[in-house]
Amino acid sequence: MKTLVVYFSLEGNTKWAAERIAAELGADILALEPKAAYPDKGFKKYFWGGKSSVMKEAPELEPYKVKTADYGQIVLAAPVWAGNFAPPLRTFLQLEDLSGKSLALVTCSGGGSPAKAFANLKELLQVSGEIPTLWLVDPKSKQDPKNETAIREFCGRLGAQK
Ligand SMILES: Cc1cc2nc3c(=O)[nH]c(=O)nc-3n(C[C@H](O)[C@H](O)[C@H](O)COP(=O)(O)O)c2cc1C
Repeated sequence: MKTLVVYFSLEGNTKWAAERIAAELGADILALEPKAAYPDKGFKKYFWGGKSSVMKEAPELEPYKVKTADYGQIVLAAPVWAGNFAPPLRTFLQLEDLSGKSLALVTCSGGGSPAKAFANLKELLQVSGEIPTLWLVDPKSKQDPKNETAIREFCGRLGAQK
């Protein structure tokens, strides 16, 4: 099954995870870029990103060329913001019809629970049963060998590439 890893990352942790997963699977990768970049420093970073997450915004994205119709399996990755998944992923899900595809979810957080982010994503995707999920804590800034094991275990649960 051809796999696409779709991610949004503000500070590089989810990017790091998405790239590791794509390399492990031999998958293609798509970075979501909001047209209006979120501030990435200081108070503004938490204020504007947090507000956007709490308000369940769907920020406009820069156009991308990838066609999800070409893929049978999609891995969706985003950081946890204010307990939920970061909003650029919401925009992607509004733009794309992923019904019938094999799905898997990845979040990176600073240590807070990914439960709400996963639950909200599954609700949006209308997934009722179990799907593979992976939660990493700041994997780029806090390098930990356990992350490699977790990534390999996660990838092992996904459909094989063809
Ligand atoms: C706006 C904002 C809100 C955040 N909210 C949370 C949170 O609720 N819980 C948590 O554990 N970490 C939170 N974090 C930390 C990030 O989830 C964490 O550092 C993540 O690894 C960042 O991913 P990135 O480097 O791909 O952007 C927040 C970070 C930002 C910028």
